[in-house]
Amino acid sequence: RRYKESDSGDRVKPFAEQKSWEDQQIGKGSLKFGSQDVKRNGDDYEYVFEDQIEFIKASVMDGENVEDMFNEPSDGFREKERVQNLQDERKTLPIYRFKEDLLKAIHDNQVLVIVGETGSGKTTQITQYLHEAGYTKRGKIGCTQPRRVAAMSVASRVSKEMGVKLGHEVGYSIRFEDNTSEKTVIKYMTDGMLLREFLGEPDLASYSVLMVDEAHERTISTDVLFGLVKDVARFRSDLKLIISSASLDANKFSDYFDCAPIFNIPGRRFPIEVNYTKAPEADYMDAAIVTILQIHLTQPPGDILVFLTGQEEIEAAEELLRQRTRGMGTKISELIICPIFANLPLELQNNIFEPTPKGARKVVLATNIAETSLTIDGINYVVDPGFCKMKSYNPRTGMESLLVTPISMASALQRAGRSGRTGPGKCFRLYTAFNYQNDLEENTMPEIQRTNISNVVLTLKCMGIDDLMGFDFMDPPPAETLLKALELLYSLSAINSVGQLTKTGRRMAEFPLDPMLSKMIVASEKYKCSEEIISIAGMLSAGNLVFYRPKEKKVHADAAKMNFHAGNVGDHIALLKVYSSWEENNYSTLWCFENFIQVKTMKQARDIRDQLKGLLERVEIELRSSFNDVVSIKKAITSGFFPHLAMLQRTGAYRTGRNPQTAHIHPSSGLVCVLPKCVVYHELVLTTKEYMRQITEVKPEWLVEIAPHYYQLKDLQNAVVLYTANMDDLSFVNVLYTADMDDLSFVNVKTY
Ligand code: CDP
Ligand code: MG
Repeated sequence: RRYKESDSGDRVKPFAEQKSWEDQQIGKGSLKFGSQDVKRNGDDYEYVFEDQIEFIKASVMDGENVEDMFNEPSDGFREKERVQNLQDERKTLPIYRFKEDLLKAIHDNQVLVIVGETGSGKTTQITQYLHEAGYTKRGKIGCTQPRRVAAMSVASRVSKEMGVKLGHEVGYSIRFEDNTSEKTVIKYMTDGMLLREFLGEPDLASYSVLMVDEAHERTISTDVLFGLVKDVARFRSDLKLIISSASLDANKFSDYFDCAPIFNIPGRRFPIEVNYTKAPEADYMDAAIVTILQIHLTQPPGDILVFLTGQEEIEAAEELLRQRTRGMGTKISELIICPIFANLPLELQNNIFEPTPKGARKVVLATNIAETSLTIDGINYVVDPGFCKMKSYNPRTGMESLLVTPISMASALQRAGRSGRTGPGKCFRLYTAFNYQNDLEENTMPEIQRTNISNVVLTLKCMGIDDLMGFDFMDPPPAETLLKALELLYSLSAINSVGQLTKTGRRMAEFPLDPMLSKMIVASEKYKCSEEIISIAGMLSAGNLVFYRPKEKKVHADAAKMNFHAGNVGDHIALLKVYSSWEENNYSTLWCFENFIQVKTMKQARDIRDQLKGLLERVEIELRSSFNDVVSIKKAITSGFFPHLAMLQRTGAYRTGRNPQTAHIHPSSGLVCVLPKCVVYHELVLTTKEYMRQITEVKPEWLVEIAPHYYQLKDLQNAVVLYTANMDDLSFVNVLYTADMDDLSFVNVKTY
């Protein structure tokens, strides 16, 4: 079997302990890919089959609900489906039969919980039914989505179904992009955006209906929205509230909303055959590629959906697939590769919904987004490596990391279900049946219990909600997490020692960013460098793919990158240089190509920067340039990021701020070979190691000047002295919360 080094760095080891496959077999008969369909005389095919994966057919999901109207011949259903116009298509959705009952239930109840399988039409149809029934005469219909891609894509779909221009009657609003207008009556938005709307409109007066969609995802914003909308509904009897979910466990939602009735939409289900690998796979990416090709070469027509963990992995998979299919030349039928992830521009996203031409096969490489938030028709095969990227948070150390983690059983079921929507499906799990039954958690933990909540706490404080312990959470965050959030906000001066919002905090809350980033922006006023700081904030928020490195031109790419890092200025200043140079070159695409910079990221950074500029005006911070006075810029960065301090150890590793933890400089950093003594980092990611991404060297004196309540010079100096003498016991990390912090009685912080 393959134990290749993988191409993209973000990988964790697959499931730990494995048993031999005999122990794992739960079904009978192993499913080998039918070699009878494939001529194996050409070298090209041999290439694929050299590393064939063996699957074990395990179980077939029940297919009781197969409805007559869908038993079209399997090779002809696609064409037929596409010639029907959109209105006819709407009528074929499972929800259509329940339209009248549904409208009646909504009419009769203020709060309704709606449950229906993915693809039944909840997201795209309910809003339209309500619009047609006149609900938009007295206010907008808002529908929240946990994911930005979903908000954009369903809005685009609904505008097409209604025959209106996107952004007019139907629009969407996501962070840094508002595509709505005066005319908008159906508004799709991320749950985070609705949360922000509460700041300006606490009673949501402009809405007649609110649909909290994909409730089963239990994102932190959705969880907070539950509490807020429940409260609003109490004093706005005219507001209709719909909680919709793809999960079967609707009772929890119903209980929370004072026993709101549950409306069930039975889905259509075709039988799904689930296959497990015979033995654990060492490299799931590689296994996924091989499986895709096996399906393509041996299975009847039907598109493939593959679940990967993120943009980097999807782009790597796309590249690998292209390489390998190129090698097979014209002997195989066309394989159309469609990636889908959060940062993909809307035009490209729509590709995944384009009908597949006859004779070709589409393979959709998707993140978790395709699990329940997006429905793609024509999928007959699902490839499920069993991983997703998940945030995890350690309230003790305050460390947040994005981790490639095994999915839950509930997720695995949802994923498999995507293959059986338009015909019988097959799901290929790249893990063993034993793994499935023994290693996967039953359900995914709600995000609020595994994330840093300082951002949400700040937003709630801004809404005047001070008693966070008493907030009506469906599942409350751990007390430690809450304390940590308050501590952080206090140290950033966003709240005072009795827990009240400060002027700084109010200004910070205007920015839809994490508190440390907003603090950096607010602090740029003092250091007179807001121009530069919003460029940096724009670049940091646009994503991690700034530089690219084609295999054939590694040397050129590295040289181009070094230009921006010259003088070991640090990653933040390098990002600023990239942005300013691009600006000086009139935002030229050619310039990006010449410098091995991702155009996509740059455009996004510009959009974000424009928004931040507008927000600066709102909080009355003048747009000023320090004319590249690096010290001022770094001090502004330090004002936000001082809690993310790390000091070099003798081993060449770093030890992070006050809660000691070992970390390393990310290989993509310009400082990876420089190893400065004292740095602040933007974020910590855990892949093969704990890595600090985007770092800047700082001076201990600045830390004391900027955060005297947090750091004391003697301790920091101590650390530096220790560094030269003996770095092993960096006692400075125990410096903390001295004097000033003692009276933080409201959070019961332990003083050190
Ligand atoms: O929300 P739910 O999963 O119940 O279904 P939906 O998102 O409303 O999707 C219903 C149907 O709309 C899908 O089966 C697709 O055929 C279609 N759709 C689409 O073509 N493009 C989208 N962006 C979203 C939905
Ligand atoms: Mg939906």
